[in-house]
Amino acid sequence: MDEEKKVIFSGVQPSGNLTIGNYLGALKNWVLLQDDYRCYFSVVDLHAITVRQEPKSLREKTLEVLALYLAVGLDPEKNTIFIQSHVPAHSEAAWILNCFTYMGELSRMTQFKDKAAKHQDNINAGLLTYPVLMAADILLYQTDLVPIGADQKQHLELARNIAQRFNNIYSPTFKIPEPFIGNEGARIMSLQDPAKKMSKSDENENGYILIMDPPDVIKRKIQRAVTDNLGTVKYADEQPGVKNLISIYSAVAGMPSDEIENKYKGAGYAKFKQDLAEALIEELKPVQEKCNDLLKNKDYLKKIYSDGAERAAKVAYKTLRKMQKKIGFIPYLAK
Ligand code: TYM
Repeated sequence: MDEEKKVIFSGVQPSGNLTIGNYLGALKNWVLLQDDYRCYFSVVDLHAITVRQEPKSLREKTLEVLALYLAVGLDPEKNTIFIQSHVPAHSEAAWILNCFTYMGELSRMTQFKDKAAKHQDNINAGLLTYPVLMAADILLYQTDLVPIGADQKQHLELARNIAQRFNNIYSPTFKIPEPFIGNEGARIMSLQDPAKKMSKSDENENGYILIMDPPDVIKRKIQRAVTDNLGTVKYADEQPGVKNLISIYSAVAGMPSDEIENKYKGAGYAKFKQDLAEALIEELKPVQEKCNDLLKNKDYLKKIYSDGAERAAKVAYKTLRKMQKKIGFIPYLAK
């Protein structure tokens, strides 16, 4: 019966501490989708090394992201939760798909341009071919739907193009995946510069709120969030700071923006910010507690990611074998 469900694939890089952008743009939607889809959620460590990572920290972050997946409410029985590098089919498929992707396509990617500008001393080939690895992640599972924040839409479009190209050259091999981008939380912006997306790699820590930030830090960061001197809680492009705070509120409380505007009519920013901070603290508290508990139980986490890798590998290798066969690689019989 499960076989008939449509497939979801998504992932988060363990390249830093996760922000409420990751939570509201991705994780929170995954939890809502897990009952209706066959889901694969990966901690994408291969992606993370396109930027230099300290080995100890990468190990810690990988487990933390895995624990957060469980802490936000993803059920490891229902979903396949795994660490990307444990399924080598991802790297193998990425190599093949690299040969079906053009330099022009890759160099046009906004994330590549941003990251290349930011890490000028390390513009490695992985940074450029990153979206091909992401295409491999998605296509290996014959994915129907990819729940992501708006910043990943361009990468998903490239994955679709690569899949279509491969299918046209050979014969139908891959499902063509669709993006699933939520409304309110799809693009959470920096609290200090609402023209920039909220990012775990921002140097200014007041720009982001981490899922694991304690209550006093959340309060302080929201209080310091950039607004304007208009003094009206309005979801408008002319008030990008306030608009962003309304988006966060809306995604957390599940309240449409016009209702939030009405609630704070004539109230000014102080009360609005105070309530938003409270709502965030309440939302994150159980996640934080669960995550801290899980991190104390490394054996349990090990069991989850080991089972997950085994389940994922079965599906991934099936597609990889199909790709290899179509290309003309000679299969071998393992002894
Ligand atoms: P990453 O690790 O940067 O972010 C993980 C997820 O969080 C979303 N996100 C946001 N959503 C709203 N507002 C924000 N400020 C914000 N910041 C991040 C991202 O859109 C993403 O959904 N390349 C991906 C990881 C990846 C992947 C995949 C995703 C690798 N392979 C296959 C889906 C399918 C990335 O860097 O996400």
